Amino acid sequence: MTIKIAVIGFGNIAKAIITPLFDKKLLDPRDVYCLVNSKKSVDNIKKNYKYNVNIFQANSKDSEIVLNCQIKLLSVKPQQLKNIVGLEKYTDSGNLLISILAGVSLEKLSKRFPNHICVRVVTNIPIIIGKGLTGIAFGDEITQDQKRFTKKLFENSSKIYELPQDLLDIFLALTSSGPAIIALIIEALSDGGLSGGLQKHLSEELVMEMIIGTITLIKDTNLTTAELKNMVTSPGGTTITALRVLENKSLRSALIESVVSASNRSKEFC
Ligand SMILES: NC(=O)c1ccc[n+]([C@@H]2O[C@H](COP(=O)([O-])OP(=O)(O)OC[C@H]3O[C@@H](n4cnc5c(N)ncnc54)[C@H](OP(=O)(O)O)[C@@H]3O)[C@@H](O)[C@H]2O)c1
Repeated sequence: MTIKIAVIGFGNIAKAIITPLFDKKLLDPRDVYCLVNSKKSVDNIKKNYKYNVNIFQANSKDSEIVLNCQIKLLSVKPQQLKNIVGLEKYTDSGNLLISILAGVSLEKLSKRFPNHICVRVVTNIPIIIGKGLTGIAFGDEITQDQKRFTKKLFENSSKIYELPQDLLDIFLALTSSGPAIIALIIEALSDGGLSGGLQKHLSEELVMEMIIGTITLIKDTNLTTAELKNMVTSPGGTTITALRVLENKSLRSALIESVVSASNRSKEFC
């Protein structure tokens, strides 16, 4: 028997999760039933998405097919959750609901989706290129098969970390908000290069290659970050001068607080 999979909200992240599974033929697009909010998105997916998934508009007569699937990936925006209606009608218990909504707790999901065993997942944008990080918190009633299936959805394009639910907010702050923080750092360092007379493009390229090289060095040699810092910091030299500016401007504290506040914001959604 083939299992039908519903995707409630077939936007950017849902596509990033599902498309590699189609690419690697681990899922058949004919078994995937997607729901979006607008007719425009239905038409756009029919016209432009490279696979022929079953696609329906929310609250249309056909959307019942999606809501009837035993396995559901929930991937609307957290503020759109209140608009998902009709799931409580399905009286079969034990359906699996995998939510990727930022900050929405297992308890809230279980209340919202009775008859479903809920799983909360946090993933991040590099999943698009198969380099994602995915944190998963399973509820108590989950079966081994449901656990395996959930991991299968994400392991193809991300590293999986099984975590207690209370660590998912900080996992999200580090990994999901992290790419934006790193992008800002790249942009700011490149502007430093620009200020010193480098062309923008070259400056950005140098920053990115420097970051990749530094990370590879740390990983390949098992250097600690402190050891690496000491290696490139000589008495009265340029690097200690740069680091002194960052300490004066409290960069370290600003980064710590940015992660803590992203985590607190995620908790507010619960
Ligand atoms: N962005 C990130 O970096 C990131 C990373 C990890 C997880 N997430 C989580 O992933 C989720 C989705 O984010 P996204 O960036 O993929 O958002 P998105 O591109 O805006 O996708 C949302 C999808 O939900 C559909 N939708 C809206 N209301 C609906 C309804 N009532 N019934 C059915 N479908 C509905 C939208 O349809 P229309 O196109 O017709 O509006 C759209 O297809 C969020 O909860 C977010 O927290 C995001």
